[in-house]
Amino acid sequence: MDVIERCRVLAEFTEEPGFITRTFLSEPMRAVHAQVRDWMERAGMSVAVDPAGNIRGSYPAARGAAPRLLIGSHLDTVPRAGAFDGVLGVVLGIALVERLGGRRLPFAVEVIGFSDEEGVRFGVPFIGSRALVGDVDAALLATIHDAIAAFGLDPGRIGEARLTGECLGYLEFHIEQGPALDSLGLPLGVVQSISGQTRTNVVFEGVANHAGATPMSHRRDALAGAAEWIATVESEARAIEDAVATVGRIDVSPGAANVIPGAAACTLDVRHPSDEIRRDLAQRLLRSAERIADRRCLRVSSETRADQRAVAMDPALTGALERAVANTGHPVHRLCSGAGHDAMILARRMPAAMLFLRSPGGVSHHPDETVLPEDVSAALDTGVRFLEELERVHG
Ligand code: GLV
Ligand code: MN
Ligand code: MN
Repeated sequence: MDVIERCRVLAEFTEEPGFITRTFLSEPMRAVHAQVRDWMERAGMSVAVDPAGNIRGSYPAARGAAPRLLIGSHLDTVPRAGAFDGVLGVVLGIALVERLGGRRLPFAVEVIGFSDEEGVRFGVPFIGSRALVGDVDAALLATIHDAIAAFGLDPGRIGEARLTGECLGYLEFHIEQGPALDSLGLPLGVVQSISGQTRTNVVFEGVANHAGATPMSHRRDALAGAAEWIATVESEARAIEDAVATVGRIDVSPGAANVIPGAAACTLDVRHPSDEIRRDLAQRLLRSAERIADRRCLRVSSETRADQRAVAMDPALTGALERAVANTGHPVHRLCSGAGHDAMILARRMPAAMLFLRSPGGVSHHPDETVLPEDVSAALDTGVRFLEELERVHG
């Protein structure tokens, strides 16, 4: 079965029939693990699921006591996702080990399928990779404790997910999720840096009341306040070059046609290549929420769930990846990622590099997300050359 077919197989394991929805340690992740384990074992890896729910396949080095190269991406999805975001990077990692045909390298290879990168279930992204770098603090552990236990893992042992031993670096294959490569007609791109992101929950509270009997002048409508603020989020982000800001979810209560909304809980996602500009914009948007709430006699509260700084990829490892792209006969195109990736977290602990595959139409986080077979071949060939580059350095 080829790489694209395997991604489609994993897409069958979903919380929502007819769509691909698979959040952190939800039930369908069990079937994903069983399938990924089978492919990993057939490729010659020994496989374990760590206490953070990451599936990890180890392919030994030619000699014991060698450092290892990590290759990974995530197996969770956004609601109603495409079949390739994250999954493709894991499946390509396995395919790359298969390409070795049992040949041992001077370093070991560990292929990782992270349990959470999207942050959909708990509003906190990168839970899987954060566990690898020892960044699951008491508050995060309390949040995810029951989900880990319900999946049959031991949250008390979360520390065992932490990386030990010497690591050469981390490589992540991922679809671009944007239009740049497609518009240039290029199959591959080498990531230079990844934008930071702020995720904040913002709740407007007003007073629920009768939709027929309460005059317009007497209302404290939480949703109307949130709606005004959402339009402000859009216009303030538009005014700043390279900034993006999104309210992707809003939960209204009590939620009935004939009840004035008493509360509106919104998510806010803000990104920019510069951390200073991103943080400044996020602060400004929260002040706008307060101003709008004041004027409308509403209350507003906010809780920031993630403040991930922008991260540069490692120049040396990225250089090796660029040579690998060139050696496969493809143009070396350098680009920055607006989307977040596990590589941002792994970069805290080791050199990290990322290869993007073209996203036809720039479509992602949508069922129509796709990838071209020839681009998958180009990525796999590049992976083989990349391993050869590392063999030369570490052989
Ligand atoms: C992940 O897809 C993200 O950038 O939110
Ligand atoms: Mn995603
Ligand atoms: Mn992703």
